[in-house]
Amino acid sequence: MDRSRPIGVFDSGIGGLTVVRALMERLPLEHIVYFGDSARVPYGIKSVATIEHYTAQITDFLLQQNVKMLIVACNTMAAVASQVVQERARDIPVIDVIEAGALAAVEQSGGHGIGVIGTPTTINSNAYARRIHELDAGARVYSQACPLFVPLVEEGWLDHPVTRLTAQEYLRPVLAEDVASLVLGCTHYPLLKPLLKEVVGPGVRLVDSATTTAQLAAARLQALALMRTQTTRPDYRYVVTDVPLRFQTIGERFLGRSLGQVERFEW
Ligand code: DGL
Repeated sequence: MDRSRPIGVFDSGIGGLTVVRALMERLPLEHIVYFGDSARVPYGIKSVATIEHYTAQITDFLLQQNVKMLIVACNTMAAVASQVVQERARDIPVIDVIEAGALAAVEQSGGHGIGVIGTPTTINSNAYARRIHELDAGARVYSQACPLFVPLVEEGWLDHPVTRLTAQEYLRPVLAEDVASLVLGCTHYPLLKPLLKEVVGPGVRLVDSATTTAQLAAARLQALALMRTQTTRPDYRYVVTDVPLRFQTIGERFLGRSLGQVERFEW
């Protein structure tokens, strides 16, 4: 396969730009095509059938862009529709945030409990717990849905008393257990890291699924001899299904740099 083909990254909206940001840092030479379904976000409160249908459409779009690897940046899609992606991708390697996050959590927990937070659909699917138990059958996993975090992050309330109070409330039952790590099982949560660090205290490590996914992608590209070798500047394409109000500001907050040109795609 041609190593200079882009990596396809996708999410329900623009939250997956946290994964793109981590990829740009870890794999600075790779071309990236990002697809965000901003017209239909949020997915985290939708039914499995709807999410599967949307996931199939996005996967097909990215395969048409001739990608060499697919990265499911959305935890909700990874939780309930990873099979859909695998079936359509065939021999194109697929990485998802749950695989990466579960691996890192097991490595970091040292036999203590593992906390997992995510959208209601992700938590109800039990996908993180299942993956963690495949890696360590004896692991104790404590999960908590945090539905208010996505709107709070999109509002930009990253260091706000309302967000702090919400986090304390959501995390109380998890922190009552002996947890050594807390998996941030949603694209939006890495932006809450400083606040969550304060709430969980020094004894709990936060597992950021964005950075762990970038590490896993790098290892997989290396193993498959698919790393891009040219040293010219890579191309970054951002394709979204809607450009709502404040899109640029929120997107740049997730990406940590200027977004540049954004393409709009209609189904
Ligand atoms: N991208 C979703 C996730 O990581 C969060 C936003 C949504 O609910 O669509 O679970």
